[in-house]
Amino acid sequence: MSKLIVLSNRVNLPNKQSPKAVAGGLAVALQEALAKDGGIWVGWNGQVVTNISDMPDTVNQFATEQHDKVTYVTTAFSPMQYEKYYCGYANNRLWAGMHDRTDLIVSSSEDFSVYQAVNRMFAKQLQQIAQPDDMIWIQDYHFFAVARHCRDLGMKQRIGFFLHIPFPQLWVWDFLTYGQTLINQLLDYDVVGLQTQQDAQNCVAVIEKLLPHAIQITQTNARTLIAHGNHITLIQAYPIGINPVYIHKLASQPLSDQAVLKNLTSTITTILAVERLDYTKGIPERLQAFAAFLRRYPQYLERIQLYQIACPSRLDIQTYQQLRQQVHTLVEQINSQFATANWQPIIYQEDPVSHDNLMPLFRQCQICWVNSLKDGMNLVAKEYIAAQDEQNAGILILSKNAGAAHQLQQAILVDPTNNDSMIEGLYQALTMTKQQREQRHQSLLKSIYETNIDTWRAHFLADLTHMDKTK
Ligand code: G6P
Repeated sequence: MSKLIVLSNRVNLPNKQSPKAVAGGLAVALQEALAKDGGIWVGWNGQVVTNISDMPDTVNQFATEQHDKVTYVTTAFSPMQYEKYYCGYANNRLWAGMHDRTDLIVSSSEDFSVYQAVNRMFAKQLQQIAQPDDMIWIQDYHFFAVARHCRDLGMKQRIGFFLHIPFPQLWVWDFLTYGQTLINQLLDYDVVGLQTQQDAQNCVAVIEKLLPHAIQITQTNARTLIAHGNHITLIQAYPIGINPVYIHKLASQPLSDQAVLKNLTSTITTILAVERLDYTKGIPERLQAFAAFLRRYPQYLERIQLYQIACPSRLDIQTYQQLRQQVHTLVEQINSQFATANWQPIIYQEDPVSHDNLMPLFRQCQICWVNSLKDGMNLVAKEYIAAQDEQNAGILILSKNAGAAHQLQQAILVDPTNNDSMIEGLYQALTMTKQQREQRHQSLLKSIYETNIDTWRAHFLADLTHMDKTK
């Protein structure tokens, strides 16, 4: 019987609390996607160990563990794999560039060869475990090249790729070094899934420019089939979703995290922001806009608070250390400027909150503010909506630059680079009538039920199943 094999760099290993489990994102989504019919989940176990050889053709040892219907097959990285593949090419170059932050790229040309070697190492592991009928689903920017290495190893299985982050416009590809090679390798996948129509259009346009020999066989608004060599690839948007029924249920449970509870006061309106501490999330921009709001609308002093949960990640990368410093300084400045004897405007927390506690917290906070400067989808936005009590729904302020904004038009959409837009968005959220809140909530809820984690998985895998195997 055919089984599903998923490869992602980050794996949500059971019983191991990770920041991702808190802030939504890829690992939580994949957990949900695999829970239903089970499968194999391959990836990194989050450890860096010194007993793995730094030779280019190293094949790492993988450990297998079974939990419910999912088999986890994970490996540690060597210091070099961690530094050059994970920190280097994947995060210092691809993550920065693909979020239009080419100014932040700091990575050496050697990083790319280790990126390829790690992709090849995972391809070899997939070869060990995949049966001819299995479907292989590769996730995210860490693994543009895996299908190419699988084909080189003679693997004939259907292999799909889903990119969780934005697909940037052509100008960015000049900064990615080896961008053309990556696009070439991307066309060894049978299906390439993107978050939004815009991402899909960008992808097709970049292929057209960088690979003039690739031929578009058909193109409708939603689907493009591209022939390259003797292989055909489907390119399409599959917006990722959540499991709204499960989240609604979790959110109805009592909040038991005492450290979180002590930050909530019934007389103060809480505006919640929760994410990884990442420069794409617009955290300094939000903090500055919040301070400007308090100056413009002083009647809200002592009546509102911003509860900012920012979970540190990728701290071995200098840009992230600098961001952390900047955020700490801003929080201190704003708090010392506005705090009174009984009130602090910003509650700042880096400790992760478990998913089980985060959903009830979403329900208790009157406003959630997602401020991404650029974001593939943003599942916090969707989770916040699903977590609400329909009789007293909270309000979502959402950056127009998050993929989720394409669907969640009834949120208060703001420009995260424009102070006025954020300030007035917050004012609108604070002054909305109950009836207006309910109307917006109904429409948002409909959208997250229609496009959920099951539809994401089902649509992608149905297309992967039906792709012709013209190899
Ligand atoms: C984003 C990426 C994921 C990544 C996650 C956490 O959501 O799309 O691929 O796993 O960030 O980042 P980390 O580097 O900690 O795995």
